[in-house]
Amino acid sequence: IWSQVPLAPPDAIFKITAGYKADTSDKKVNLGVGAYRDDDGKPWVLPVIKKATQILCNDPALDHEYLPITGLPEFTAAAARLILGADSEAIKGKRVVSVQTISGTGANHLGALFLSRFYAFNGEKRVYLSDPTWANHHAIFKTVGITPVNYKYYDPRTVGLDCDGFLGTLESAPERSVVLLHACAHNPTGVDPTTEEWNKIADVFLKKGHYAFFDCAYQGFASGDLDRDASAVRYFVQRGVPLLVCQSFAKNAGLYGERVGALHLVAEDTEAAERIRSQMSVLQRSEISNPPAHGARLMALIMNTPELMDEWKRDIKTMAHRIIDMREELYKLLTNDFKTPGTWNHITKQIGMFSFTGLNSSQSQTLTDKYHIYLTNNGRISMAGLNTKNVRYVAEGIDKVVRG
Ligand code: LMR
Repeated sequence: IWSQVPLAPPDAIFKITAGYKADTSDKKVNLGVGAYRDDDGKPWVLPVIKKATQILCNDPALDHEYLPITGLPEFTAAAARLILGADSEAIKGKRVVSVQTISGTGANHLGALFLSRFYAFNGEKRVYLSDPTWANHHAIFKTVGITPVNYKYYDPRTVGLDCDGFLGTLESAPERSVVLLHACAHNPTGVDPTTEEWNKIADVFLKKGHYAFFDCAYQGFASGDLDRDASAVRYFVQRGVPLLVCQSFAKNAGLYGERVGALHLVAEDTEAAERIRSQMSVLQRSEISNPPAHGARLMALIMNTPELMDEWKRDIKTMAHRIIDMREELYKLLTNDFKTPGTWNHITKQIGMFSFTGLNSSQSQTLTDKYHIYLTNNGRISMAGLNTKNVRYVAEGIDKVVRG
């Protein structure tokens, strides 16, 4: 009965992890998935997470009952403050709908599903996605019947932002289009708009009545500062651009497997927020019933305890700064030591967990096949996979494939 089911290709990112695991070479390096590693290439359980886990485990009142459908209120409220700001007028005005989700992917899905049901699309249901974007964005929107369309974003000639192209697509898109924006640390390019560019983008959103669908998976990873990395979202809220934000705690708290995240929709008033919340609850109930408790309890404890919050901020700085050090090191090795043809300053200019090296797909494939260095075939490398022990080996590999 299933003969008509076609075989699907493996996931582009997770197949790299599988290939890396199966590789028996002692030289192998995984620069595929965006997951933080310490200087020994090991997953890092944040010290603040260890501390919070201990506190939770010692709590005799801890049970395993269901959470409310929209999640743990202490978590969703703190998560909203984290992204929108503790002094957010939208929060004070009770016009933010916050729902706990299965990490950032679940937030994207719930947001997309909600829009597909209730947004007044101008013609065909479409979402504008940056070219390129996280591959899963395409799949998530298609699943709910929204067609992805590209907007210009990355300029391969400058290895930077094509701001005019971006603004041009926004101008020519139909009014009230839904546009997905990476709040910070753009995945996969590591290229973010400057403050001035965000201003211009917001102008066009307001002029055309576009809807901003923010994905914020890397708050803290761009600059090492949670508030600074939320500034584009906060600025759009302040300007009155209609929007929602998908939030993940996978990367900035190292809680990849706990699936802890949230969706925040900023509505025009409290009454609209009430109606939206009621519909979000209905959607959530039919999809997951209620979200998982453990990760949300950890983050609620951390975000609502000033000393733990300070410690979390220090842990985020540790991760962000190690990545920045690796950017500098890779840049120095390619430029000074190997004198690799081409310019490499984009490596230090780009932001967050990834660098879009500019390597083409055959160079990327050669890095994997010949040097056991794993990366996506668009030339994206996860900077978090580099460390003081393997960065020279990786630079040498890049040098060799560039020289052909
Ligand atoms: C990535 O882009 O590597 C991460 O966001 C992990 C994922 O889920 O794809």
